[in-house]
Amino acid sequence: MPQPDASDPTPRPPRRKRYVGRNPRSFQDKYKELRLDPATLAKVTASGKTPAGTHLPILLPEIRQILALQPGDTVADATLGYGGHAAALLPAIQPTGLLLGLDVDPLELPRTEARLRALGFPPATLAVHRSNFAGLPKVLASLGLPGVNALLADLGVSSMQLDNPARGFSFKSDGPLDMRLNPQRGQPASALLASLPPHKLAALLHENADEPRAFPLADALAGNSFPTTRSLTAALHALTPDPAERELTCRRVFQALRIAVNEEFSALDSLLRHLPQSLLPGGRLAILTFHSGEDRRVKKALALGLANGTYESIADQVIRPSPAELHANPRSSSAKLRWAIRAPSP
Ligand SMILES: C[S@@+](CC[C@H](N)C(=O)[O-])C[C@H]1O[C@@H](n2cnc3c(N)ncnc32)[C@H](O)[C@@H]1O
Repeated sequence: MPQPDASDPTPRPPRRKRYVGRNPRSFQDKYKELRLDPATLAKVTASGKTPAGTHLPILLPEIRQILALQPGDTVADATLGYGGHAAALLPAIQPTGLLLGLDVDPLELPRTEARLRALGFPPATLAVHRSNFAGLPKVLASLGLPGVNALLADLGVSSMQLDNPARGFSFKSDGPLDMRLNPQRGQPASALLASLPPHKLAALLHENADEPRAFPLADALAGNSFPTTRSLTAALHALTPDPAERELTCRRVFQALRIAVNEEFSALDSLLRHLPQSLLPGGRLAILTFHSGEDRRVKKALALGLANGTYESIADQVIRPSPAELHANPRSSSAKLRWAIRAPSP
């Protein structure tokens, strides 16, 4: 057998990591998915899963229909994420339209921009800005835009963020208890938990996730050190005697902390307040929410806008994913879509 030549400076490709079983389970071992190997992506998607490092856009045909984009339109995607919705919307505004994509995540945003540029969308067609959507009016002003013809906001976290254990969003894998969409700002969830008094943590669990055991959980958790997702999950399991309730409890507590760490409700309230000035007359709006705290805010703001004449019409009911979409993408299960059309100018 030929021996490696010690004087050869050519770097060798890394050896594939071995994993147990037929399919990789840990995030890093899913190297073919993370490298966007087309055959692997197709296989994983066909099995009803989201390939690691990607995100499947939710309610896409319904959103296309609501936004009814025309060539030359300016559209804001307030939560660019993986760019799934954006990539599907961009062709409709060609050749002179502009899609303005915002996201707070400094880690995923450059990858998304590179992917969208590689699909053939240059800066004249796609402007990408790292910004909280609460700052949409400022971004529009910096670009000299009077407003947009359409806006999409697909709230919460992307699958890339959720699945990467290093981001600390998921109770299903171990990593630092961080949960920041922008890890360069604010404090991680571990620091928040360590610093909150029990009554504040209880309020947060109740308001952000409708947690029915907010007070006993807060009494046991507040002020304690949980440096990793696994340490918090273990504590929640120990505090939840009924095994059937454990996953739901973890889901609610992780959701409540994520919302608090990223100040998600105040960002959404700002977006909803600024929408009338950001949408051009006749402009169309689609907002995807994933839990009751978000949907309540959107429903209330749109109803108020209809009553005061800001909006000409709004969704009278939420739109939910079809059984076929739920089967193909179980992560769409809690999605609710609402829409509104800005009144024409008087
Ligand atoms: C559900 S994903 C969007 C997925 C996207 N529609 C797609 O098809 O790929 C939500 C994205 O919104 C971003 N995000 C959450 N809150 C934000 C905020 N206040 N301002 C800007 N981006 C935000 C997250 O970082 C995440 O990338």
